[in-house]
Amino acid sequence: MKNGASFTFHDLAPGEESFRDAVLTGLGRATKRIPCKFFYDARGSALFEEICRLPEYYPTRTEIAILEDYSTDIAAQIGPHCRLIEFGSGGSQKVRILLQALDRPAAYVPVDISREHLRDAAISLAEDFPSVPVIAVCADYTRPFRLPPLPGAGGKRIGFFPGSTIGNFEPEAAVAFLTNYARILGAGGEMLVGVDLKKDTDILEAAYNDRAGVTAAFNLNLLERVNRELDGDLDIDRFEHLALYSDAEGRVEIYARSLADQSARIAGQRFYFAKDELVHTEYSYKYSVGEFRALAARAGFRPVDTWTDPAELFSVHYFRLR
Ligand code: AVI
Repeated sequence: MKNGASFTFHDLAPGEESFRDAVLTGLGRATKRIPCKFFYDARGSALFEEICRLPEYYPTRTEIAILEDYSTDIAAQIGPHCRLIEFGSGGSQKVRILLQALDRPAAYVPVDISREHLRDAAISLAEDFPSVPVIAVCADYTRPFRLPPLPGAGGKRIGFFPGSTIGNFEPEAAVAFLTNYARILGAGGEMLVGVDLKKDTDILEAAYNDRAGVTAAFNLNLLERVNRELDGDLDIDRFEHLALYSDAEGRVEIYARSLADQSARIAGQRFYFAKDELVHTEYSYKYSVGEFRALAARAGFRPVDTWTDPAELFSVHYFRLR
């Protein structure tokens, strides 16, 4: 590591949910499903990075533009000496915009379950921001856990949860997730969260049905992962990607649809798929500003400010705990 960088690593040894259990249970249900958290193996993570650069997938570039355009306002709201805590920090890219604007942050605390990716991203960030102590925590942030002692006692604890990942939780689970985040931030904590807005169905459906077929590959990679890791023989060519916006539910719904009556063996068990049967893989909820404020209020967060882009595609909310 380069001179001057400050980096510590805390491994809380999170137990990973078994992919095998989730698949065997999920495909055994009357309405089949595989949870979206399993999209992100090495190939899925690479495909997701490609999605973020697609012309149709507006959320990533729009959120980055909001963070850049309003970084001075955001930094003023946060104030000096904050401890910035990011759940699901991944490659720690967007936080760089904040760290450039913040007034002498006392610590950056990336929290992620993916040990090696977390370590690499945190070291690279510590080298690029040598004045900011980086305290990486390997943990499952959807479950309660304790943060290590942080430097800069007295500075605010700020949560950072960009990317509209909150939209991949169903609303009750989103409230539970925010409640856990609130508990970890503690009294006086504040939070910056990126949330995709409701908008025309055409824009939403194009974002999840890109012309290059990358989202389809990302979705069907989940079935390929079943074959690779669970000794499966699913015929991937006899499934297709399906993504539809449900106005009633306010969410994009993503499925793998079976193109034929077929069966497959997975981890020694046989599963049947009827023609047109759907395997649910992901929801991506979209919220108006008011709807998301109401959801966050259920976890104790009071709205302070919200920034959006001129086309009102995406929102970045700033909350304070009551
Ligand atoms: C990670 N998450 C916010 C993405 C979304 O837009 O819901 C995942 C994704 N699924 C298909 N495209 C992108």
